[in-house]
Amino acid sequence: MPGARDKKDPHQLHKPDGVWLTKGVRTRRMIPLIRMFFVVGSAFAVAACSSEPVLELSVGAREGKTLYDTNGCASCHGSNGSGGVGPILAGIAGTNVALSDGSLVIADRAYLVESILLPQAQLVDGYNIKMPQNQLTAEQADLVAQFIEELVIP
Ligand code: HEC
Repeated sequence: MPGARDKKDPHQLHKPDGVWLTKGVRTRRMIPLIRMFFVVGSAFAVAACSSEPVLELSVGAREGKTLYDTNGCASCHGSNGSGGVGPILAGIAGTNVALSDGSLVIADRAYLVESILLPQAQLVDGYNIKMPQNQLTAEQADLVAQFIEELVIP
């Protein structure tokens, strides 16, 4: 039969089998590696989907974010101002905030800085928990306010 393997031919007996064997071994060795790529890849995909949008922050806001993260602000206002025990900070810049005395105030830079430096000066309506005093300087509070201004609504 043309093309059929002649078992008596030593070349055909060893060579094709040998080639197939080494290929097979190589492929089998690759399987755990390929699996690992899938596992690592899907882990990245999940992480990318569940994480918050990447913020594009100015230099000052980036310093502000560091201060925000290291002064316990995130524990009440959430990471990136997403809210928690304290009000949501993302998106408040420039909006009207209702205070506990019934007045409205525009959340401009001055308001944000004052809210940070003197937490009890102007109280947001509807909160029983009091925001604690912090150790930030006026300059640092300004950087944090800059960060709050650049926060996007999640
Ligand atoms: C123990 C929880 C807590 C911590 C910690 C905390 N806050 Fe607050 N924060 C609040 C609460 C509650 C309010 C609303 C009542 C008020 O106005 O004090 C508030 C209000 C604010 C406001 C005004 C928000 C608005 O809607 O007008 C800003 C700005 C603010 N916090 C920034 C900060 C920053 C910056 C830090 C970190 C230095 C911080 N907070 C730490 C609880 C907290």
